[in-house]
Amino acid sequence: MKALNTQLQNELTKTDQPLKSIFIGGGTPSSVEANLYDEIFLRLIAFIDKDTEITIEANPNSTTKEWLTHLKKLGVNRISFGVQSFNDEKLKFLGRNHDKNMATNSVNLAYEVGFRDINLDIIYDTAIDSKKLIKSDLEIIKTLPINHISAYSLTIEEGTKFFKKPNSKIENIEMTKYIFESLESFGFIQYEISNFSTDENSRSKHNFGYWEKEDYLGVGAGAVGCVGNERYYPQKDVEKYIQNPLIYEDVEILDADDIRFERIFLGLRSKSGVPLVLFDEKQKEKINILLQEDKVTLKNDLLFNNDFLLSDEIALFLE
Ligand SMILES: C[S@@+](CC[C@H](N)C(=O)[O-])C[C@H]1O[C@@H](n2cnc3c(N)ncnc32)[C@H](O)[C@@H]1O
Repeated sequence: MKALNTQLQNELTKTDQPLKSIFIGGGTPSSVEANLYDEIFLRLIAFIDKDTEITIEANPNSTTKEWLTHLKKLGVNRISFGVQSFNDEKLKFLGRNHDKNMATNSVNLAYEVGFRDINLDIIYDTAIDSKKLIKSDLEIIKTLPINHISAYSLTIEEGTKFFKKPNSKIENIEMTKYIFESLESFGFIQYEISNFSTDENSRSKHNFGYWEKEDYLGVGAGAVGCVGNERYYPQKDVEKYIQNPLIYEDVEILDADDIRFERIFLGLRSKSGVPLVLFDEKQKEKINILLQEDKVTLKNDLLFNNDFLLSDEIALFLE
């Protein structure tokens, strides 16, 4: 946290504007004592205004009332719980350290402490999923005081435990559609391939900033920042980062094509849309085909994808 503070001081020299959003993620921020965030918020205070969205991620097994109360006092106004499921068997399958009751209790605790912007993450497309299991999870979600859901399809990442158990993931498009339609029927509106909110105001400003390719500062071991056409990577190794938090492991210079492709790719995955000016003539011909097939919509010179589950295919078709 001391090293992170040193880097934060350095990164904040890159802006003199109020921050639109702050996202404290991880790893597991709730495993760090609340008072270790004090210095960070003292440093951030000059860059926070009434509209700054301040999110912190937490895991149900390490969330306490004291921790939530302290972070709220520091200015955090949005909480994101890594719940994944409310089924104890599935939580064991996912190697999670919490159970159903800890998950529901931590969400209700956050509401009790006064948080009104509350997200929970769920994971689907696991080998243990069944319509019955997913239905029972959705029934619980419907009862909770939350205004945002992030639903992620299980990804098998190299270097993780699951990499040794690739059959842990079973893609099931019908089940995915059932989850998405159920969330919509509960009043959640999908605004990105994995993100749902009860209204536009409860969307994640922070994530929207990524999808609209706004500049962002990245602070911490393993974090990533991107300002202008420079994407920079602080050291991933925590010990090395503590030794010297100011050196970058890598700096990637994005050329105009990289930025254009990323803007198209991210814009098609979300309701941010893609400015038509980013497309060349050949792509505009392909867009006409997609318009005839009602796969995309053109509004105010912005191209919107009509089915997020096809976003990557459409991006590659246009490329
Ligand atoms: C940045 S992670 C937050 C880390 C969090 N503390 C955790 O325990 O995973 C945000 C969310 O990503 C999702 N996630 C983590 N690993 C994943 C995986 N292999 N596949 C899909 N989603 C994953 C989980 O829903 C998690 O809550």
